[in-house]
Amino acid sequence: MATRRSTLYLWELAWILPSIALPVGMLAALAVTAFGAGINVTGDAGRVDSTKVAEHPLFKEPGVVETAPGQYEVRLVAQIWAFAPNEIRVPAGSTVHFWATSRDVIHGLLVPRHNINVMLLPGQISHAQARFETPGEYPIICHEYCGIAHHTMAGKIIVEAKR
Ligand code: CUA
Repeated sequence: MATRRSTLYLWELAWILPSIALPVGMLAALAVTAFGAGINVTGDAGRVDSTKVAEHPLFKEPGVVETAPGQYEVRLVAQIWAFAPNEIRVPAGSTVHFWATSRDVIHGLLVPRHNINVMLLPGQISHAQARFETPGEYPIICHEYCGIAHHTMAGKIIVEAKR
């Protein structure tokens, strides 16, 4: 009888320990990605009347602005089916802040492997930032279905080698 009881105890332990370890592990993974790797939900950086985007100080002239040495601001407007600007040039080692919105429907803003993955909602200003260390060409992709020519909606970031 004693043997049977201790076997049951071991079976219980075999179930209880993973059921504690799993949520603790997931919480640790969440903490590491959120605070260590800086992966988090993009906040709402402000509002804009989607019918008056062209009058907003941030989006009057879409483009790239150097705000400090090595710091760039991209003022980006999405509309069917293009990004303005659709070509961004920065030197290697730059930190790029994207301020973006949509003039019409929901678009996406994705720069693969650079922690930029944002929905662009009409009426909302979105902000995301990334550092571009390696020279090369990186795509800017709309990854929210926005109509018949959604698949053509893309741009590029050209990271130039430092002179
Ligand atoms: Cu814009 Cu899909």
